[in-house]
Amino acid sequence: MGLTTAVCFAEFGHRVIGMDIDEKKIAMIQSGKSPIFEPGLEEMLKRNLESGRLTFTIDLTEALHETLVVFSAVATPPNEDFSADLRIVYQVCENVAQIADHNFVFVNKSTVPIGTGSECEERIAAILEKRGVSYHIPVISNPEFLREGCAVTDTFQPDRIIVGVNNNPEARERMEEIYRPVTRTKKPILFMNRESAEIVKYASNAFLATKISFVNMLCELCEKKGANIRDVTHGMGLDDRIGSRFLHAGIGYGGSCFPKDVKALIALSRETGIPMPIVEATHEINERQRQRFFQALLSTLPKRATVAVWGLSFKPKTDDMRDAPSCDLIPLLLAAGHTIRVFDPVAMENAKKIFGDGITYNSSPMEAAQGADTVILLTEWDVFRGIHLQELKSTLKGNHLFDGRNVYELREVTKAGLTYHGIGIGPDHCYTTSIFPSSHERSIESEPIDIKRIDH
Ligand SMILES: NC(=O)c1ccc[n+]([C@@H]2O[C@H](COP(=O)([O-])OP(=O)(O)OC[C@H]3O[C@@H](n4cnc5c(N)ncnc54)[C@H](O)[C@@H]3O)[C@@H](O)[C@H]2O)c1
Repeated sequence: MGLTTAVCFAEFGHRVIGMDIDEKKIAMIQSGKSPIFEPGLEEMLKRNLESGRLTFTIDLTEALHETLVVFSAVATPPNEDFSADLRIVYQVCENVAQIADHNFVFVNKSTVPIGTGSECEERIAAILEKRGVSYHIPVISNPEFLREGCAVTDTFQPDRIIVGVNNNPEARERMEEIYRPVTRTKKPILFMNRESAEIVKYASNAFLATKISFVNMLCELCEKKGANIRDVTHGMGLDDRIGSRFLHAGIGYGGSCFPKDVKALIALSRETGIPMPIVEATHEINERQRQRFFQALLSTLPKRATVAVWGLSFKPKTDDMRDAPSCDLIPLLLAAGHTIRVFDPVAMENAKKIFGDGITYNSSPMEAAQGADTVILLTEWDVFRGIHLQELKSTLKGNHLFDGRNVYELREVTKAGLTYHGIGIGPDHCYTTSIFPSSHERSIESEPIDIKRIDH
């Protein structure tokens, strides 16, 4: 998020200095290479490096020199108890306060729980006081809503910009100036108090995750009662009040934001004693959905099967594998003695860092499917949509296609001679079999799977 923000702000015409403690990352960025796959980012990075408007450093003192606004975009991962780990957030504002030699505005762009801005402001003020200096460093909340895969477009054309600022007209003006290139295109900037701004981000992500979990909750019912979730959500989504976005049934949400933000809201609910049962249910349904899919898959696999996994990133157009279904599923399959062949258009380098030589990396979907008993689609990259199903049938040794994103049509897959396992598609719609297993398999299904989360 920090890199995209820096590059886009430079593109707006601002003078930007990007700072990170990761030397390798900074060296890579300085050479014009983006450390993440994000459409359009690398070209814009190069252009702005060349223009001189954008520079990078690992030296905080250099980064702060004459700077008017400091944006902090550090990670806020979940703790064991679901709360957001704010250690880096506080470390950054304390470091900044130690070095500050003039007045500036400190903007928290990370997703943080309510009250974090106030705590940051207090910590900064305490350090300045201890140093015996009287600089003024107000803390603003400016949560970021960009989506991986379209981060650049989202920064240029956000649905809204949220700024939480408490009684500080000067700081507000500075934020208006920074975002003027966006607001000139009639995109709204909303000012509110810092506490409200901090909640908007969690509330938005939890609401979107709830839409996903609501649909996924209905999948089991559809499977049991012979309905098709695709038809159900199509019917629901045409109602303007509901809308069709985020009504897609699948293996559940993943990535670096939704799971952790839902968890952080649950932690806030527990900490404050304010019940948030919808958010709790959203998380539980998401976990259950992943488990159900894995159980259905495991129950069809022969011993020592070869499994092709299509898609490793948590969603298309990114190489981000944080909390991706592949990170849960692959270790599970390996532990059960199966052989894994994978393909992803951009996430394979990241996958190598996680799985090493334990799995086989392939250069195309068909190569991954070569001689496999089962193919599993985990990420809905476009390249998988165009697969020739008959060719897939002749490439596979077995004939199971597990579709974790409901990309394919049951009829098409069945016509190609493959056995389709979608999500939320009831037995009446199936010509051969579906995700709904036989009674024997269901008894296996009742045992919960112990998913060992990969921490990376
Ligand atoms: N990834 C997204 O799409 C996205 C979208 C909206 C909001 N956010 C929020 O933005 C925040 C950052 O997310 P991310 O995915 O970009 O995280 P990230 O882990 O990819 O990036 C954080 C960066 O901070 C650097 N860092 C760590 N300690 C530092 C320090 N003391 N000084 C300077 N840099 C330091 C790390 O080296 C790393 O490069 C999170 O709170 C996240 O919820 C992320």
